[in-house]
Amino acid sequence: MAKVIAVCNQKGGVGKTTTSINLSACLSAAERRTLIIDMDPQSNATTGLGFDKNTIDQSIYDVLTDRADGNDCITIKTITKKCDLIKFLDIAPATPDLAGAEIELVNVIAREKKLSSAIDFVRDLYDYIIIDSPPSLGLLTVNVLTAADSVLIPIQCEYYALEGLAELLNTIRLVQKNLNSKLVIEGALLTMFDGRLNLSRQVAEDVRSCFSGRVFDVVVTRNVKLSEAPSFGKPIILYDIMSSGAENYLNLAKEIMQNEQTKSAS
Ligand SMILES: Nc1ncnc2c1ncn2[C@@H]1O[C@H](COP(=O)(O)OP(=O)(O)O)[C@@H](O)[C@H]1O
Ligand SMILES: [Mg+2]
Repeated sequence: MAKVIAVCNQKGGVGKTTTSINLSACLSAAERRTLIIDMDPQSNATTGLGFDKNTIDQSIYDVLTDRADGNDCITIKTITKKCDLIKFLDIAPATPDLAGAEIELVNVIAREKKLSSAIDFVRDLYDYIIIDSPPSLGLLTVNVLTAADSVLIPIQCEYYALEGLAELLNTIRLVQKNLNSKLVIEGALLTMFDGRLNLSRQVAEDVRSCFSGRVFDVVVTRNVKLSEAPSFGKPIILYDIMSSGAENYLNLAKEIMQNEQTKSAS
Protein backbone atom coordinates (compact mmCIF):
# COMPACT_ATOMS: atom_id res chain seq x y z
CA MET A 1 0.00 0.00 0.00
CA ALA A 2 1.62 3.23 -1.14
CA LYS A 3 2.58 6.04 1.16
CA VAL A 4 1.39 9.27 -0.50
CA ILE A 5 3.67 12.27 0.02
CA ALA A 6 2.60 15.75 -1.14
CA VAL A 7 5.37 18.21 -1.96
CA CYS A 8 3.77 21.56 -1.19
CA ASN A 9 4.57 25.23 -0.76
CA GLN A 10 2.51 27.94 -2.42
CA LYS A 11 5.67 29.93 -3.14
CA GLY A 12 7.10 29.41 -6.60
CA GLY A 13 10.74 28.51 -7.16
CA VAL A 14 11.42 26.90 -3.78
CA GLY A 15 12.36 23.47 -5.13
CA LYS A 16 9.04 21.56 -5.18
CA THR A 17 9.48 20.11 -8.67
CA THR A 18 13.20 19.46 -8.23
CA THR A 19 12.41 17.60 -5.01
CA SER A 20 9.47 15.67 -6.49
CA ILE A 21 11.46 14.46 -9.50
CA ASN A 22 14.64 13.59 -7.66
CA LEU A 23 13.09 12.07 -4.55
CA SER A 24 10.92 9.89 -6.81
CA ALA A 25 13.92 8.84 -8.92
CA CYS A 26 16.00 8.00 -5.83
CA LEU A 27 13.19 5.94 -4.24
CA SER A 28 12.87 4.06 -7.55
CA ALA A 29 16.61 3.47 -7.64
CA ALA A 30 16.15 1.71 -4.29
CA GLU A 31 13.58 -0.52 -6.06
CA ARG A 32 10.59 1.10 -4.39
CA ARG A 33 7.72 1.16 -6.88
CA THR A 34 7.10 4.88 -7.25
CA LEU A 35 4.51 7.02 -9.01
CA ILE A 36 5.01 10.75 -9.43
CA ILE A 37 1.80 12.68 -10.02
CA ASP A 38 2.21 16.08 -11.65
CA MET A 39 -0.48 18.41 -10.27
CA ASP A 40 1.02 21.65 -11.57
CA PRO A 41 -0.39 23.09 -14.83
CA GLN A 42 3.15 24.27 -15.62
CA SER A 43 3.93 20.55 -16.08
CA ASN A 44 7.57 20.92 -15.06
CA ALA A 45 7.77 17.48 -13.45
CA THR A 46 6.43 15.98 -16.69
CA THR A 47 8.94 17.76 -18.93
CA GLY A 48 11.77 17.37 -16.39
CA LEU A 49 11.45 13.60 -16.75
CA GLY A 50 11.74 13.83 -20.51
CA PHE A 51 8.08 13.87 -21.61
CA ASP A 52 6.82 16.38 -24.14
CA LYS A 53 3.67 17.98 -22.74
CA ASN A 54 2.49 18.78 -26.28
CA THR A 55 2.30 15.13 -27.29
CA ILE A 56 0.49 13.89 -24.18
CA ASP A 57 -3.13 13.17 -25.08
CA GLN A 58 -4.44 12.13 -21.67
CA SER A 59 -3.34 13.67 -18.40
CA ILE A 60 -4.29 14.18 -14.77
CA TYR A 61 -6.71 16.87 -15.99
CA ASP A 62 -8.86 14.17 -17.67
CA VAL A 63 -8.89 12.13 -14.45
CA LEU A 64 -9.92 15.04 -12.21
CA THR A 65 -12.67 16.20 -14.56
CA ASP A 66 -14.13 12.67 -15.09
CA ARG A 67 -13.42 12.53 -18.81
CA ALA A 68 -14.14 9.27 -20.64
CA ASP A 69 -12.46 7.57 -23.56
CA GLY A 70 -15.33 5.90 -25.43
CA ASN A 71 -17.15 3.97 -22.71
CA ASP A 72 -14.19 3.86 -20.36
CA CYS A 73 -13.48 6.36 -17.60
CA ILE A 74 -10.03 7.87 -17.77
CA THR A 75 -8.22 6.80 -14.58
CA ILE A 76 -4.73 7.34 -13.19
CA LYS A 77 -3.88 3.89 -14.54
CA THR A 78 -4.97 4.94 -18.05
CA ILE A 79 -2.79 8.05 -18.13
CA THR A 80 0.26 6.64 -16.34
CA LYS A 81 3.44 6.32 -18.37
CA LYS A 82 6.58 4.37 -17.56
CA CYS A 83 9.76 6.40 -17.22
CA ASP A 84 11.96 4.39 -19.55
CA LEU A 85 15.10 5.79 -17.96
CA ILE A 86 14.41 4.40 -14.50
CA LYS A 87 12.86 1.07 -13.63
CA PHE A 88 10.17 1.23 -10.93
CA LEU A 89 9.28 4.85 -11.79
CA ASP A 90 5.95 5.84 -13.38
CA ILE A 91 4.46 9.26 -14.00
CA ALA A 92 0.90 10.55 -14.16
CA PRO A 93 1.62 13.59 -16.35
CA ALA A 94 0.11 17.07 -16.42
CA THR A 95 -0.60 19.41 -19.31
CA PRO A 96 -1.37 23.14 -19.20
CA ASP A 97 -5.13 22.51 -19.46
CA LEU A 98 -4.97 21.45 -15.81
CA ALA A 99 -5.29 25.15 -14.97
CA GLY A 100 -8.90 24.94 -16.19
CA ALA A 101 -9.76 22.22 -13.66
CA GLU A 102 -9.81 24.78 -10.82
CA ILE A 103 -12.77 26.47 -12.51
CA GLU A 104 -14.46 23.40 -14.01
CA LEU A 105 -14.65 21.68 -10.64
CA VAL A 106 -16.21 24.62 -8.80
CA ASN A 107 -19.75 23.19 -8.86
CA VAL A 108 -18.82 19.53 -8.64
CA ILE A 109 -19.79 17.51 -5.56
CA ALA A 110 -16.80 16.41 -3.44
CA ARG A 111 -14.51 18.45 -5.66
CA GLU A 112 -11.76 18.43 -3.02
CA LYS A 113 -11.64 14.62 -3.05
CA LYS A 114 -11.25 14.03 -6.79
CA LEU A 115 -7.54 13.20 -6.60
CA SER A 116 -7.90 11.18 -3.41
CA SER A 117 -10.60 8.96 -4.97
CA ALA A 118 -8.53 8.52 -8.12
CA ILE A 119 -5.45 7.50 -6.11
CA ASP A 120 -7.41 4.84 -4.18
CA PHE A 121 -7.46 2.71 -7.35
CA VAL A 122 -3.66 2.63 -7.68
CA ARG A 123 -2.50 2.66 -4.05
CA ASP A 124 -1.82 -1.08 -4.12
CA LEU A 125 0.44 -0.82 -7.15
CA TYR A 126 3.11 1.37 -5.55
CA ASP A 127 5.28 1.79 -2.46
CA TYR A 128 5.42 5.58 -2.79
CA ILE A 129 3.29 8.16 -4.58
CA ILE A 130 4.90 11.60 -4.73
CA ILE A 131 2.74 14.55 -5.78
CA ASP A 132 4.19 17.78 -7.17
CA SER A 133 1.97 20.80 -6.44
CA PRO A 134 1.26 24.15 -8.08
CA PRO A 135 2.42 27.44 -6.53
CA SER A 136 -0.95 28.34 -5.01
CA LEU A 137 -3.30 27.27 -2.25
CA GLY A 138 -6.27 26.78 -4.59
CA LEU A 139 -8.43 23.75 -5.28
CA LEU A 140 -5.61 21.76 -6.92
CA THR A 141 -3.45 22.05 -3.80
CA VAL A 142 -6.41 21.23 -1.56
CA ASN A 143 -6.92 18.08 -3.67
CA VAL A 144 -3.25 17.21 -3.20
CA LEU A 145 -3.39 17.67 0.59
CA THR A 146 -6.66 15.72 0.83
CA ALA A 147 -5.10 12.80 -1.04
CA ALA A 148 -1.84 12.71 0.93
CA ASP A 149 -0.65 10.82 3.99
CA SER A 150 2.02 13.40 4.63
CA VAL A 151 3.30 16.71 3.35
CA LEU A 152 6.91 17.61 2.61
CA ILE A 153 7.50 21.37 2.60
CA PRO A 154 10.55 22.56 0.65
CA ILE A 155 11.87 25.85 2.00
CA GLN A 156 14.37 27.86 0.02
CA CYS A 157 17.20 29.29 2.13
CA GLU A 158 16.60 32.85 0.89
CA TYR A 159 15.07 36.13 2.01
CA TYR A 160 11.38 35.81 2.90
CA ALA A 161 11.74 32.02 3.23
CA LEU A 162 9.20 31.89 6.03
CA GLU A 163 6.80 34.34 4.42
CA GLY A 164 3.49 32.67 3.60
CA LEU A 165 4.29 29.67 5.79
CA ALA A 166 1.57 30.57 8.29
CA GLU A 167 -0.96 30.48 5.46
CA LEU A 168 0.28 27.10 4.28
CA LEU A 169 0.17 25.66 7.82
CA ASN A 170 -3.32 27.05 8.24
CA THR A 171 -4.47 25.38 4.99
CA ILE A 172 -2.94 22.11 6.22
CA ARG A 173 -4.84 22.47 9.52
CA LEU A 174 -8.12 23.12 7.69
CA VAL A 175 -7.62 20.07 5.49
CA GLN A 176 -6.76 17.96 8.57
CA LYS A 177 -9.91 19.16 10.31
CA ASN A 178 -12.39 18.92 7.45
CA LEU A 179 -11.11 16.63 4.73
CA ASN A 180 -8.21 14.40 5.73
CA SER A 181 -7.60 13.73 9.43
CA LYS A 182 -4.66 11.37 8.73
CA LEU A 183 -2.52 14.07 7.09
CA VAL A 184 0.78 14.71 8.92
CA ILE A 185 3.76 16.91 8.21
CA GLU A 186 6.55 14.65 6.90
CA GLY A 187 9.01 17.48 7.36
CA ALA A 188 10.39 20.77 6.14
CA LEU A 189 13.25 20.42 3.67
CA LEU A 190 15.86 23.14 3.41
CA THR A 191 16.71 23.71 -0.25
CA MET A 192 19.31 25.75 -2.17
CA PHE A 193 21.39 26.01 1.00
CA ASP A 194 24.73 27.78 0.69
CA GLY A 195 26.85 27.22 3.79
CA ARG A 196 29.09 30.19 2.87
CA LEU A 197 26.21 32.61 3.38
CA ASN A 198 25.12 33.89 6.78
CA LEU A 199 21.65 34.24 5.30
CA SER A 200 21.38 30.51 4.50
CA ARG A 201 22.53 29.61 8.02
CA GLN A 202 20.08 32.09 9.56
CA VAL A 203 17.15 30.73 7.53
CA ALA A 204 18.09 27.17 8.52
CA GLU A 205 18.05 28.22 12.18
CA ASP A 206 14.69 29.98 11.83
CA VAL A 207 13.13 26.99 10.06
CA ARG A 208 14.43 24.60 12.75
CA SER A 209 12.87 26.70 15.50
CA CYS A 210 9.61 27.07 13.58
CA PHE A 211 9.30 23.31 12.79
CA SER A 212 10.88 21.92 15.95
CA GLY A 213 11.82 18.30 15.29
CA ARG A 214 10.20 18.20 11.89
CA VAL A 215 13.05 19.38 9.67
CA PHE A 216 14.85 16.77 7.58
CA ASP A 217 18.47 16.12 8.61
CA VAL A 218 19.30 16.24 4.92
CA VAL A 219 19.84 19.74 3.59
CA VAL A 220 19.80 20.24 -0.19
CA THR A 221 22.68 22.51 -1.10
CA ARG A 222 22.72 24.86 -4.06
CA ASN A 223 24.03 22.83 -7.00
CA VAL A 224 23.98 23.95 -10.62
CA LYS A 225 23.71 20.34 -11.83
CA LEU A 226 20.24 20.16 -10.27
CA SER A 227 19.11 23.09 -12.39
CA GLU A 228 20.70 21.67 -15.58
CA ALA A 229 19.28 18.14 -15.30
CA PRO A 230 15.63 18.94 -16.31
CA SER A 231 16.67 20.36 -19.67
CA PHE A 232 18.13 16.92 -20.43
CA GLY A 233 14.92 15.27 -19.24
CA LYS A 234 16.81 13.39 -16.56
CA PRO A 235 16.78 13.12 -12.78
CA ILE A 236 20.04 14.09 -11.11
CA ILE A 237 21.14 10.50 -10.41
CA LEU A 238 21.29 9.89 -14.17
CA TYR A 239 22.53 13.34 -15.17
CA ASP A 240 25.43 13.47 -12.69
CA ILE A 241 25.63 10.82 -10.00
CA MET A 242 28.82 12.42 -8.59
CA SER A 243 27.14 15.76 -7.89
CA SER A 244 26.21 17.02 -4.44
CA GLY A 245 22.60 17.20 -5.67
CA ALA A 246 22.56 13.45 -6.35
CA GLU A 247 24.04 12.77 -2.92
CA ASN A 248 21.51 15.06 -1.20
CA TYR A 249 18.47 13.50 -2.83
CA LEU A 250 19.73 9.92 -2.34
CA ASN A 251 20.10 10.79 1.35
CA LEU A 252 16.62 12.31 1.43
CA ALA A 253 15.15 9.08 -0.01
CA LYS A 254 17.10 7.13 2.61
CA GLU A 255 15.85 9.37 5.42
CA ILE A 256 12.23 8.95 4.30
CA MET A 257 12.59 5.16 4.05
CA GLN A 258 14.28 5.08 7.47
CA ASN A 259 11.47 7.13 9.06
CA GLU A 260 9.05 4.57 7.69
CA GLN A 261 11.02 1.69 9.23
CA THR A 262 11.31 3.42 12.61
CA LYS A 263 7.58 4.03 12.63
CA SER A 264 6.64 0.47 11.73
CA ALA A 265 9.08 -0.90 14.35
CA SER A 266 7.64 1.23 17.17
N1 LIG B 1 19.39 22.83 -4.90
C1 LIG B 1 19.30 23.57 -6.01
N2 LIG B 1 20.42 24.16 -6.53
C2 LIG B 1 20.35 24.93 -7.64
N3 LIG B 1 19.22 25.17 -8.32
C3 LIG B 1 18.08 24.60 -7.87
C4 LIG B 1 18.06 23.78 -6.70
N4 LIG B 1 16.78 23.38 -6.49
C5 LIG B 1 16.04 23.93 -7.48
N5 LIG B 1 16.81 24.66 -8.30
C6 LIG B 1 16.37 25.46 -9.47
O1 LIG B 1 15.55 26.51 -8.97
C7 LIG B 1 14.44 26.74 -9.83
C8 LIG B 1 13.15 26.51 -9.05
O2 LIG B 1 13.08 25.16 -8.63
P1 LIG B 1 11.75 24.31 -8.82
O3 LIG B 1 12.04 22.94 -8.30
O4 LIG B 1 11.24 24.41 -10.21
O5 LIG B 1 10.78 25.08 -7.82
P2 LIG B 1 9.18 25.05 -7.69
O6 LIG B 1 8.70 23.75 -8.26
O7 LIG B 1 8.94 25.18 -6.22
O8 LIG B 1 8.67 26.24 -8.44
C9 LIG B 1 14.60 25.78 -10.98
O9 LIG B 1 15.24 26.44 -12.03
C10 LIG B 1 15.50 24.67 -10.42
O10 LIG B 1 16.25 24.02 -11.43
MG1 LIG C 1 7.25 23.43 -9.75
